[in-house]
This record gives sequence, structure tokens and C-alpha cells, in this order.
Amino acid sequence: MRPANLFCLDVTTMAVVAVVLATAAPSVSGQLPDYPTANLSTRITYTDGSAVRAIILRSTQTLYGPSFAAGFFCAPPCQAFLFAVFIANFNSGYGLPLEENNMARVIWSANRASPLGENATLELTGDGDLVLREIDGRLVWSSNTSGQSVAGMQITEHGNLVLFDQRNATVWQSFDHPTDVLVPGQSLLQGMKLRANTSTTNWTESKLYMTVLPDGLYAYVGSKPPQLYYKYLVDTNKSRKDPTRVTFTNGSLSIFLQSTQAGKPDKRIALPEAKSTQYIRLEYDGHLRLYEWSGFEWTMVSDVIHMDDVIDVDNCAFPTVCGEYAICTGGQCICPLQTNSSSSYFQPVDERKANLGCAPVTPISCQEMKNHQFLTLTDVYYFDGSIITNAKSRDDCKQACLKNCSCRAVLFRYYHNDSDGECKSVTEVFSLQSIQPEKLHYNPSVYLKVQLPPSASAPTQKRIKVILGATLAAISSLVLVIIVGIYVRRRRKYQKLDEELDFDILPGMPMRFSFEKLRECTEDFSKKLGEGGFGSVFEGKIGEKRVAVKRLDGARQGKKEFLAEVETIGSIEHINLVKVIGFCAEKSNRLLVYEYMPRGSLDRWIYYRHNNAPLDWCTRCRIILDIAKGLCYLHEECRQKIAHLDIKPQNILLDEKFNAKLADFGLSKLIDRDQSKVVTVMRGTPGYLAPEWLTSQITEKVDVYSFGVVLLEIICGRKNIDISQPEESVQLINLLRGKAKDNELIDIIDKKSTDMVSHHQEEVIKMLKLAMWCLQNESSRRPSMSMVVKVLEGAVSVENCLDCRFVNANSVISAQDNPSTYSAPPSASILSGPR
Ligand SMILES: *[C@@H]1O[C@H](CO)[C@@H](O)[C@H](O)[C@H]1NC(C)=O
Ligand SMILES: *[C@@H]1O[C@H](CO)[C@@H](O)[C@H](O)[C@H]1NC(C)=O
Ligand SMILES: *[C@@H]1O[C@H](CO)[C@@H](O)[C@H](O)[C@H]1NC(C)=O
Ligand SMILES: *[C@@H]1O[C@H](CO)[C@@H](O)[C@H](O)[C@H]1NC(C)=O
Ligand SMILES: *[C@@H]1O[C@H](CO)[C@@H](O)[C@H](O)[C@H]1NC(C)=O
Ligand SMILES: *[C@@H]1O[C@H](CO)[C@@H](O)[C@H](O)[C@H]1NC(C)=O
Ligand SMILES: *[C@@H]1O[C@H](CO)[C@@H](O)[C@H](O)[C@H]1NC(C)=O
Ligand SMILES: *[C@@H]1O[C@H](CO)[C@@H](O)[C@H](O)[C@H]1NC(C)=O
Ligand SMILES: *[C@@H]1O[C@H](CO)[C@@H](O)[C@H](O)[C@H]1NC(C)=O
Ligand SMILES: *[C@@H]1O[C@H](CO)[C@@H](O)[C@H](O)[C@H]1NC(C)=O
Ligand SMILES: *[C@@H]1O[C@H](CO)[C@@H](O)[C@H](O)[C@H]1NC(C)=O
Repeated sequence: MRPANLFCLDVTTMAVVAVVLATAAPSVSGQLPDYPTANLSTRITYTDGSAVRAIILRSTQTLYGPSFAAGFFCAPPCQAFLFAVFIANFNSGYGLPLEENNMARVIWSANRASPLGENATLELTGDGDLVLREIDGRLVWSSNTSGQSVAGMQITEHGNLVLFDQRNATVWQSFDHPTDVLVPGQSLLQGMKLRANTSTTNWTESKLYMTVLPDGLYAYVGSKPPQLYYKYLVDTNKSRKDPTRVTFTNGSLSIFLQSTQAGKPDKRIALPEAKSTQYIRLEYDGHLRLYEWSGFEWTMVSDVIHMDDVIDVDNCAFPTVCGEYAICTGGQCICPLQTNSSSSYFQPVDERKANLGCAPVTPISCQEMKNHQFLTLTDVYYFDGSIITNAKSRDDCKQACLKNCSCRAVLFRYYHNDSDGECKSVTEVFSLQSIQPEKLHYNPSVYLKVQLPPSASAPTQKRIKVILGATLAAISSLVLVIIVGIYVRRRRKYQKLDEELDFDILPGMPMRFSFEKLRECTEDFSKKLGEGGFGSVFEGKIGEKRVAVKRLDGARQGKKEFLAEVETIGSIEHINLVKVIGFCAEKSNRLLVYEYMPRGSLDRWIYYRHNNAPLDWCTRCRIILDIAKGLCYLHEECRQKIAHLDIKPQNILLDEKFNAKLADFGLSKLIDRDQSKVVTVMRGTPGYLAPEWLTSQITEKVDVYSFGVVLLEIICGRKNIDISQPEESVQLINLLRGKAKDNELIDIIDKKSTDMVSHHQEEVIKMLKLAMWCLQNESSRRPSMSMVVKVLEGAVSVENCLDCRFVNANSVISAQDNPSTYSAPPSASILSGPR
């Protein structure tokens, strides 16, 4: 069945749709064409600087669910574009500003290996070819459908991009050319591959892929020949050669054989049932992960493929976990060492990034095959467990490898003794894993081929010379080592001094760092702490000090503006505000360095996502007071009045002792003292938005409202909007309204808590009253933050006549049909703190 015409782009014989990409000015052009119904002979040009631009759009059916769209997508720093199908929340028309594009997820793309430059075009030509061209006319991608009487393009309810003909028959569909994602309803057929991308920043296909073979689901790292790292067999009967498909459905990855009855899978890999929109992605590290839209962010709900627990200690069984040749031990990567030799055959590719792997010190040369030897590794496991040829003996196996230059290593394993041994040779060596052999039911050995340096294999008659040479070399290297040692020690001393200087120049003011330095101290942005609306936060180390580095996505802001904001933020210091230590503004990179908060954000502790123990009442009270003090400082005590505008648990961070500090001043807007009301465009996070956002009369009281929501969440131990709850209690605010009316507030107190109801009931109810005061619809009836602090300290009591008709801006928005009124400005400040 074809869906309504609204989602289709039709092409008449003469019509040409040309969509021109432009990244020039970050201002909304004002005359966005009405894409789904646009007349196709028009040439569509936009210059609004959107990072995500839908051309055709289709909503998923789920409540609070995002939509499927086909269009253009760029990732920070937004210099190159994909033509892609993505899932995104389009609250504001067909574009999303860069700050929001990490909420959009690409599920298919045409040109992942060759992203488009500025002003490229997408064209559905008159003869039915969908073509991507660079501005100079160079063909980047084509659907190769010219002459097949294509009548139009549409996106189906599953997110399949389809070119169809006059009879509505599918001519071409994106589901036939999957990239790295499956969405519910999508099948991977035999011969199709999911290919992981190279890294979080590089879209190019990596060597890792997953495919369907006649007997199951397989994952490989694509060397020549490919090496198997995961398989899920459906049927061990080898003679059964039926095409297989694997379909992602609600609750499972179902594997079908064609001979089986329709509808009944032969085997299922169980997955968590879908509460909302989901997708599965083969990721750069070889994992297959299931993500779900939780109402305001994407969360990983399952790591789908599991290795055997015995072998997969700390994910060490994945083929690229440590790069080539490196041995993974408890999550650490080290290069293979020879047992009793000071020299080593392997060295790290990059000293500072052990997970990039190792390389032979002397590259293996096919000209010098007589200098090939093996480095023996015992108690080492290699992931590729695919069929191993029966070996005549261990030595035959090794000899065969020495004779074939493309062989790089031999894996040998036996069960009882060498006579039942099996052998395999590989042409590329990926990560190895150290393992206690008693855990396996066989004995593995790995022989790595190494190239001896020419001198080591010198003929006998030159031996004396060699010995002499070696002695000399040894002496000179000893001297060298001493010299280098002294030098290194001195350097270290200076470096230390340098670092200390870095911190000491201007006490209190943020330091400027080079991008290289931050890349180094975060190990190339490898340890991600979290992801916010404005960028990702990584763990790093500067000197001995742990820090959180926030990399702002797509900072369009000029350096001057950025520096001005950094200066403002850097000058704000309070024990309940996360401290900005430094920043970086280099080319298009904008980063902020924050103090590290070891216990992460508050949401982790109050939503029980990690099965943590419930916080006791006393800790909850302290956290609430800390937040109140931080906000009070921003509102009333610092030089310029500052409204935070995005108070939520994700922006409240905890240190070792559960002291709470506010983070993410990114949305904060400076409010002049004398001008207490400012009109601004809607920002913040659904669920925490005060009702006056709809009327645009924004004061710092919106923070008081959001604080009320957070307080409520802390007491109730759940999110305000929680779609996993039964429908009537999805919104905590609504629940509160009912319970307040019926005087049954006690019902909503966190059931997991052990002491709140039993020992502190009265105080908890008092706290709920305070929350209700903060949640007053009319901003003038809410207390100021200094008043809140007084209430918390017991100096004042909560006002008596409270209005209990609580509303949340979000409930109004979802009820309205015209979301474009609330578009976020593309010029929104991009500064924000860690999450
Ligand atoms: C094709 O789909 C469109 C849109 O749903 C519908 O209007 C049209 O009648 C269909 N044509 C045929 C031949 O089924
Ligand atoms: C599209 O074309 C039709 C007739 O071909 C015309 O009636 C309609 O006004 C046009 N719409 C726009 C938005 O130009
Ligand atoms: C792209 O188009 C815009 C607006 O037409 C223009 O300002 C810009 O220079 C173009 N960019 C390139 C690379 O041609
Ligand atoms: C279209 O054809 C070209 C040339 O044969 C080929 O490289 C490309 O992969 C094809 N595109 C698709 C989507 O099949
Ligand atoms: C992306 O990865 C590919 C290999 O997978 C590499 O050839 C290419 O240079 C990388 N691109 C960038 C920009 O790093
Ligand atoms: C394996 O499959 C073949 C072909 O379908 C069939 O003839 C044979 O009986 C099967 N063997 C077993 C053990 O199921
Ligand atoms: C998935 O299945 C479960 C259980 O049958 C159901 O509750 C849920 O609504 C389904 N999810 C979707 C997105 O259809
Ligand atoms: C590449 O994949 C990783 C996960 O494997 C993902 O985090 C990242 O966003 C992807 N990159 C792009 C540009 O899509
Ligand atoms: C290690 O040293 C011992 C004794 O010096 C020697 O017998 C053995 O062959 C050496 N092993 C390797 C791998 O070189
Ligand atoms: C060498 O090994 C490769 C990979 O295992 C194999 O394809 C090739 O046929 C071998 N060459 C010879 C001469 O055996
Ligand atoms: C190897 O083990 C097999 C089976 O246990 C046994 O029959 C055979 O004699 C053993 N061979 C040697 C050389 O120990």
C-alpha cells in the first residue's frame, strides 16, 4: 500500500527537482518551501545553515517519537554532507540547527565514503535517476535507475527510501543497500552487509562487517581472506543451502530460512521490547548495539552480540579493540614482547595511544624471506575461531607459513597433544587477547611472523665481526641510553614546570589550551563521559589532574564572541557551580575544560538506570540545597544576573562526596540587572520547561520552575516524562496534580527509598510542598532562589495557598499542532558544560 501523497515527491516527464546545498549564512532564509507538496519544477535552494535538512519527512507512529526523513545531514564541524535517511525530532519545520543534530541519527546514507561539499545538488532527473553531484558537476552517487520509469520518491513508515514507478512498484529502495543500521521492519538478506564506520568522526566504511550466510548471522573483519569474529548459527545441517534473512522486529533479531513457514523465524536473538523508536547499529568497535529514543535522548539499551563470557573479558575478544598486533589484557593494550630478550620486534604505532596497535619494528619484506622467523606467544587467544585446517604437525604448519610471504601469523591449537592439533594462518593480525588457557578446552599458541634485522642472521664467518660490532653497539647504546635518560629527566622537569605554569599564570581565569594538547590529554577523545545537546564530553588528564573536556559541536561562533563568553563564564566561581579550567579556540574547534566530577550527573543516581542503591534522604537534601545555592548565586549574587535556562538532572554533577554542582551554562542568557525581563526564543529541555515559555516572557523564574521539576524527580526517583510508565502516569507533573488534590502526596515518594517514608515523611512532604511552590504556573508566584534557600535552611516556611493546577510547557507543545512557533534559533549560544 502506498502511503498518502503527502510523503511523495513526484516527477513529471519534464520536472527536475534540484536541491542545492548551501552552508553560507547561518540565518533562516524565511521562505522555506513546503517540501512534501512543492511543485517539482521549482529549484529549491536553502541557505539557512541547517545541519540536518529534511526533504521528505514521515512521522513514526509512536507518541513522543521522532520522524523518519530523507535529506541532507552533516556532522560537526559541518563541512561535508551526506544524503541520508535519518531519524530526528523535527519540532521546528524541516531543518535542525547544528546544536541539535546529535539528536538525529543517520540510518542510511548514499555517500558515506565521499561526503559532499558546499552547494552540491541532489537531483531526481526527468528520466528517473536520483543523482548527487558536486558543485562542479562531478557525479558522487547515483541510484542507477534512469530509464526505469521512476514516478517519484517517498519514504515508507519503516524509514525505507523508495523510488517507485507509475504502477507503484518499487524500482529502487535504500533497504536493499543497508549501511550500518537496521531499523524495525528492515531485513538483512543473504549477500547484504552492514558495514561499520571507521570511527566516531570518520564515516568511511571500516573493515568490520556483518552478513547473513546460508546458516546464520556472521561478523567479520575484512582482511583477505576475511576473519570471523562472531557467528550465530541457525542450523548446523551444512547441506541445507537456503537463503536466509535476518529481520529486526520488535523484541528480536529473527533469523529465517526460506524453507520455513512464513512468519515463523527459525531462531531469534532476543532484544528488549521497543518502548519507542529503535535502531540497531554495527559500530566502529565491532559491537552491534541497540538504541532507543527515551523521550529526549537516544540511549543504548542492548549490546546485541555476545561473545562467550570466558573469552570476552573486558571486550578483549573484539578484533580491533587494541588495533593490530597488540595484546589486550584486562582492557589494556600492550605490544607483544619476546620472553628473554631486551630487543623487541614490535613497537606501538603511537606511544600515547596504545589502542591504535603495534607495528613490526622491521617491516616484513618479501625480498628477505630468509630472515623471517616466529615470535611465540603462549596463553594468547586469537578471535578467529573459524574452521582450522588439520595440520600434520606444528612444524609443518609453521614451515608453510614461512614459505608464503602473505602469511603473517600461525595459530595452532591442540586438545590433547600435537597429533590432534589444528592450524590456521592469517594474512593480517588484529588484536590478540591474553587468556588463562585452563579456561579454554584446547591449548592455543600464536606464532607471529617477524623480520629479523639483516645483521642478526649474518653467516658464521662474520660472527667475530658481528660480536665485535655488537659489543661496540652495546657500549654505544649504553652511553646513548644514559644520555637520553638524562635528557628525558630534564625535559620532564621542564614539562612539569610548563604545566604548572599553565595553571598558575592567572589564578581563577580559564587557561587557553592548544587543540593538540587537549587531544593528547583525552587520548584522542577516546573516553566519552556523555553527550549533551551541544557536544560530547570526554575524560582527560592534565598533569595529574583529571578533567572533563567538552567538545562543542559545530561552533559557528566567532573567536571573539566565544572568548567573551568564556571570560564571563570563567569569572563565575562558586562551590556549587562546575569550574571552568580552560578552553580552546583553534580554527573551527571550540572546547571547554572543566573540573572532573567523579560521580557523574544526578540522573544516573535518581533514575536507577545503573541499578545503583537509592540515595538516602540526607544526601538528597544536601543535593537539593547545593543546587539551590548554585542557582541563587547565578540569579542574585553575581555581577551579572544569569538565568541558566536548562536546569535538569543531566546538568547537575556530583563530586566524590555527592556535593552537587551546576553545569552547562550553554543556554544561559545574561540578563541585565535593570532589565529583568528578556524576550528570548524557546530553549531548554522538554519536561523542564516552565509554561511562560509559550508566552515568551522569560525571567530567571523559569529556572525556579525547572528546579521544582528536578526537586520532584529527586523525591520521586523517576523522570518527569517517563514513557515506560503506564499511560496515565507518564508525566510526573500530572500525577502530582492529582495526588495534591486528593491529599495523597505520600504515594509518589520514591518507592525504592528505604528511609523517606518510614523516617522522614513529614520533611519529605514539606519538600514536595516546596516543589509545588516552585512549580506555580504564574512565575511571579514562585519563590526566588534565595527564598528557596531560606526554606531549605528552615528559616522560612512554604507559602500556604498554592495553586495546584500544574502545567508543563511540554504538555502544551505536544498538544499543539503548529510546532514551528517554537523553533530554536540557529544563533543560539553554543557554550555549554559537561554532562
Ligand atoms: C499509488 O499510490 C498512490 C498514493 O498512495 C495512490 O494515490 C495511487 O492510486 C496508487 N496507484 C496505483 C496504481 O496503485
Ligand atoms: C503547483 O502547481 C499547481 C498546478 O500545476 C498549481 O495549481 C499550484 O498553485 C502550484 N503550487 C505552488 C506552491 O506553486
Ligand atoms: C554556495 O552558495 C552560496 C550562496 O549561493 C555562495 O555564497 C557560496 O559561495 C557557494 N559556495 C561555493 C563553494 O560555491
Ligand atoms: C551505479 O553504477 C555505478 C557504476 O556502475 C556504480 O559504481 C554504483 O555503485 C552504482 N550505484 C548503486 C547505488 O548501485
Ligand atoms: C577515514 O578512514 C579511512 C579508512 O577507513 C581512511 O582512508 C581515511 O583517510 C579516513 N579519513 C579521515 C578524514 O580520517
Ligand atoms: C539436512 O538437510 C538436507 C537437505 O535439506 C536433508 O536431506 C537432510 O535430511 C538434513 N539432515 C539433517 C540431519 O537434518
Ligand atoms: C513492542 O512489543 C511490546 C510487547 O508486545 C509492545 O508493548 C510495544 O508497544 C511494542 N513496541 C512498538 C514500538 O510497537
Ligand atoms: C560512526 O559510528 C559511531 C559508532 O560506531 C557513531 O558514534 C558515529 O556517530 C558514527 N559516525 C558518523 C559520522 O555517523
Ligand atoms: C631464553 O633463554 C634461554 C636460556 O638463556 C634459552 O634457552 C631460550 O632459548 C631463550 N628463549 C628464547 C625464546 O629466546
Ligand atoms: C599464501 O597464502 C594466501 C592466504 O592464505 C593464499 O591465498 C595463497 O594462495 C598462498 N600462496 C601460496 C603460494 O600458497
Ligand atoms: C596423543 O593423544 C591421543 C589421544 O589422547 C593418543 O592416542 C596418542 O597416543 C597421543 N600421542 C602422543 C604422541 O602422545
